[in-house]
Amino acid sequence: MLDSAHALLEDLIKDLYSAEKQLLKALPKMAKAATTPDLKRAFQTHLKETEVHVERLAELADMLDIKPGGKKCEAMAGLIAEGQEVMGEDGDELCIDAALIGAAQKVEHYEISAYGTARTVAQRLGRADAAALLEATLEEEKATDEKLTGLSTEQVLPAIPIDEEDEVSAAPAGRSSRRR
Ligand SMILES: [Fe+2]
Repeated sequence: MLDSAHALLEDLIKDLYSAEKQLLKALPKMAKAATTPDLKRAFQTHLKETEVHVERLAELADMLDIKPGGKKCEAMAGLIAEGQEVMGEDGDELCIDAALIGAAQKVEHYEISAYGTARTVAQRLGRADAAALLEATLEEEKATDEKLTGLSTEQVLPAIPIDEEDEVSAAPAGRSSRRR
């Protein structure tokens, strides 16, 4: 029952614990599916960070005297399912890398909002110790998101093939395009 800030924080931590555990299983597959070496490395690095995130959540559960298990994060299950769809696609390797980055950034954005909420609830509870742990992970999720944006815009997107029709629609304003 969500009848207090403590109960709410417990619910949020259970959700995150499930989310991170699911991600632990998905990240090695994403690293394997990626072609761009820096992207492979980014997924491997985030796997190491995710191991720490799971440990922090277990530590938080200890601090707050709650059990972290017993809940499934359906949102993460859906986001990972979308990532798996990408891995099953045939096509241009860099297009697939761009799609993998997109899927990973959806995951990061979910986590950023979830950790942000949990951090603020911990602050409301007066638990600066819990808030600090949640904040530490939040910052790492944000840094990962930014790293992925950089990889996408600097390495992957500039190198993906553009077919002729796309070139017409991507023409600068002023040139005629039938696609509006
Ligand atoms: Fe995480």
